Amino acid sequence: MDIKQKDKNYIANTYNRSDLVIVGGSGSTCVDLCGRELIDFGSGIGVNSLGYADKEWSSAISNQSSMLQHTSNLYYTLPCVEVAELLVENTYCKKVFFANSGAESVECAIKTARKYSYDKYGKGRNTIITLKGSFHGRTMSALTATGQDVFHDFFFPFDSGFLYAEPNNIYSIASMLNDSICAIMIELVQGEGGVNVLDYEYVQAISSICKDCDMLLIVDEVQTGIGRTGTLLASEQYDMTPDITTLAKGLGGGLPIGACLLGDKVEDTLGYSHHGTTYGGNPIVCSGAKVVLERVLNTDLLADVKVKRDYINSRLARVTEVKNITGLGLMIGVELTSKQASNVAKACLDKGLIVLTAKDKIRLLPPLNISMAELEIGMDILVDVLENKEKI
Ligand SMILES: Cc1ncc(COP(=O)(O)O)c(C=O)c1O
Repeated sequence: MDIKQKDKNYIANTYNRSDLVIVGGSGSTCVDLCGRELIDFGSGIGVNSLGYADKEWSSAISNQSSMLQHTSNLYYTLPCVEVAELLVENTYCKKVFFANSGAESVECAIKTARKYSYDKYGKGRNTIITLKGSFHGRTMSALTATGQDVFHDFFFPFDSGFLYAEPNNIYSIASMLNDSICAIMIELVQGEGGVNVLDYEYVQAISSICKDCDMLLIVDEVQTGIGRTGTLLASEQYDMTPDITTLAKGLGGGLPIGACLLGDKVEDTLGYSHHGTTYGGNPIVCSGAKVVLERVLNTDLLADVKVKRDYINSRLARVTEVKNITGLGLMIGVELTSKQASNVAKACLDKGLIVLTAKDKIRLLPPLNISMAELEIGMDILVDVLENKEKI
């Protein structure tokens, strides 16, 4: 029986997989079961920030796996402390809670915000405002926090305690403010929602409101974080300091990790027994995350993100099928004039390029360290597909 049939038979049918079996890769190029090479502009949805099988990353995790793969959080281990130290020393945050995914980081943020408010103001101040078009994950609270009706079906009852405001409209948030609000949670670039960037002034206004009303500002950087937008955190580009930041995806470089960054207001909000997870801060995962962070912090990677974005913009600027380019850094949305994004993605795949879609846009999330040679080959394919006169 072939692998696709076995997958269908044995794995819950929750994913709409493309017709591709990836068996390996190197740099930003992966290899399928038949030995065909494809340039990857998707990075496993923003996860493989250093591409496939980065030498330093894979030797760090294999060395760690031969020393200590896991112990419980009842004991100290070195890699998680080292990653936490790098995050604290290079961001606004004071403490880190390690989780295993984006949704779990969001859960931690929600719990922290509600407990902060409970400790200070007592019961009842627990509502979180999120934005329409947002995506925060698939656990029940993260799903409820997600501001898209399409996700609020089947799984009733959803959690209470969330309100959804119009993005880039400060009056929408202002009209919702009352004594029950404990936090506002935003993605600075809505990834799954269509690579939509929040306006600078709007984010500044939210930040002021949060400060004035002692509501916590949670920035979900699961997709935008760890260099993806050209700075370690996207919030740096908005000249504001969140109270909580959620991270995952690119931080691990391909192994499951989540991190909830806690600013000075909330550094001690979670105490003994208030939160936990068996695998949080796992030594192997953190040894890989340390390599990712050091690469982002100590090399030209972030400057290169800008150079590569400029190159992508310059290639797409001349294509009439391209209506608009959105996003920050190497988190890119391409709005199309007449072609369907899903058909473009399929045509690219046939020609040896992986691209993603987000709503009706093509979405590009190439590895941060993609070589210029791979980027050029990938852009040649994308431009070729977009310029093809065939109606797809
Ligand atoms: C902004 C954001 N938050 C949360 C999540 C959920 O992350 P995970 O799938 O790791 O649970 C995602 C996933 O796409 C995301 O983009």
